[in-house]
Amino acid sequence: MSTHIEASEGDIADAVLLPGDPLRAQHIAERFLENARCYNRVRGMLGFTGTYRGVPVSVQGTGMGQPSLSIYATELFRFYGVQKAVRVGTCGALRADGKLREVVIASGACSDSALLSQRFGRLHFAPVADFALLNAARLAAEREGVPCRVGLVASSDLFYDDNENWRLWAKYGVLGVEMESAELYTLAARFGRQALAILTVSDNVATGEGIGAQERENGFDAAARLALEAATALPAQSAGNDNPGSKPAECGV
Ligand code: HPA
Repeated sequence: MSTHIEASEGDIADAVLLPGDPLRAQHIAERFLENARCYNRVRGMLGFTGTYRGVPVSVQGTGMGQPSLSIYATELFRFYGVQKAVRVGTCGALRADGKLREVVIASGACSDSALLSQRFGRLHFAPVADFALLNAARLAAEREGVPCRVGLVASSDLFYDDNENWRLWAKYGVLGVEMESAELYTLAARFGRQALAILTVSDNVATGEGIGAQERENGFDAAARLALEAATALPAQSAGNDNPGSKPAECGV
């Protein structure tokens, strides 16, 4: 039991999917997991554990924004020993050619958040995805015929951004804006765990197009499937417990 998660030790799997919306966590558990059991209802931030193709997997809501995700990801890494964390969420495309419902696999996440400056001061840290998870997700997308792009996203603290910071990110090739991935990648580095974000384009910031609230809640099964395939594809590559630094991916030659 931790401050925001009422699960007992052993209730949460090594691999966890992290949707922002707790109702999406319930949807993923009901649609994709076998024998799913709810382990958390604190603050309505639902968490479930079941199996996917026989492998234990959990799915935990994180809420919106980096401070909220930070609480859940820290507790999962620190108190429940979670090894692989895969965010499944939405993003706004930043380029006019970014298509609604397309999947963006975030190789790295820029941010405007004070969380990074609180930790690193005048230094800059580059929050990046775990390569093995990213590669597994990309291969699953190829196998399942899911159109996807791999590239940078930006995790902003502002959903309603009067300054339109996204324009500068777009100029530098950032594919999408969302609100959580940079903190997830930073925490994974801090705890020496594996993390990835798989995002479905729910709107296009450049053109103003978007999809409805109902589809946002339940319509992203392709990304959830890729996340489950990636999270269960390989054994965890964790270097161990608290702060060993993340382990570099090994490439066979
Ligand atoms: N901004 C921030 N987060 C988002 C957006 C957006 O436009 N779309 C989906 N998540």
